[in-house]
Amino acid sequence: MPQTITPWEVKGTIDYDKLIQEFGLKPLENLPKKFTENVLFRRKIIFAHRDFGQIVDAVENKKPFVMMTGLMPSGKFHFGHKMVADQIIFYQSLGAKIYLAVADIEAYNSRNPNLTELRETAIREYLANYVALGLNLKKCDFYFQSKRSTDGRKASAYYSLAAMLARHVTFNEFQAVYGEISPGKMASALLQAADMLHPQLKEFEGKALPVVVPVGADQDPHLRLARDVAKRIKEFPFLPLSSTAHKFMPGLKGGKMSSSDPMSYLALTDSPEEAAMKIKKYAFSGGQATLEEHRKKGGNPDIDVAFQMLRLGLEPNDKKLAKIEKDYRSGELLSGELKNILIRKIAAFLEGHQRKRKLAEKKISLFAKNNL
Ligand code: TRP
Repeated sequence: MPQTITPWEVKGTIDYDKLIQEFGLKPLENLPKKFTENVLFRRKIIFAHRDFGQIVDAVENKKPFVMMTGLMPSGKFHFGHKMVADQIIFYQSLGAKIYLAVADIEAYNSRNPNLTELRETAIREYLANYVALGLNLKKCDFYFQSKRSTDGRKASAYYSLAAMLARHVTFNEFQAVYGEISPGKMASALLQAADMLHPQLKEFEGKALPVVVPVGADQDPHLRLARDVAKRIKEFPFLPLSSTAHKFMPGLKGGKMSSSDPMSYLALTDSPEEAAMKIKKYAFSGGQATLEEHRKKGGNPDIDVAFQMLRLGLEPNDKKLAKIEKDYRSGELLSGELKNILIRKIAAFLEGHQRKRKLAEKKISLFAKNNL
């Protein structure tokens, strides 16, 4: 199947090298140790970038920089979302100031008109999980697109930027970047560009500075648009946006893990028993049809979802992962045994995480009170 990758659709077998070509990305190479200590960088799960050099420079020379991302508050927080959360927390540990937008206006314009429900989900699902995973709320500017700031100076600067960006983009560009287009999508795309660019305004960080936006590979078109308009709007001397692209967390049945299909994802609120059931029942296996054949030919970890989940972070130890891979390829390790390794890892993680999440609920309660 040919690959289709747009912000709204991911289909086919994904060839990431081809994606680098098509999107005009650069492969991510020769990173300093501070980055490769992180499993996502080390294993090239974060595989490509735009202008990442200025972020490396900021980290190495202890210069201020921002990491910005936005979340679409829909459904359950699953292991695909966790990959982004892990990056946010990693950049925070490197000294970045974090900007986190709840894309409630985008969601309102594209899928769910219930703003109260969107805010509930953003706080109780997303923010609670971020904090449980280690996000420090004190070093983070968490905001709703619909409610940028109680400081009028700041709020005006953000909404003015979003409105003024419209002058610097054409209908054809929208179409080329997004395929289909509607007024709601256009407005959301411009607001999203403002999300990425506004940290550099004088009302926010005070000056142009490096901002990195880590995204799943399918979201890269948003960055292309934001980077292009940033160059054209001469009123503001923006530094070009930096970005990274990461590979997709596979859904249990293949494709991309997605909150619209409950049997495709493992949520961070699933009980260990539920997770085990889903893995046993749905996780696509790279094993052979019979035991005999498996022992003879071995399994294929490249398409095995349980192995991929271990590789994408659930087994952070490279040596252990390499042994699992070798044993699976040789046929020594069976598909069911491989699934059991994942099930044990996930169970241990979920137990710890769900305890931390209870504590996190206390930490976000004031935030919830002020925003719901
Ligand atoms: N469009 C993003 C999504 O669907 C959400 C988003 C809004 C975003 N603003 C952003 C992502 C800024 C990155 C940067 O998930």
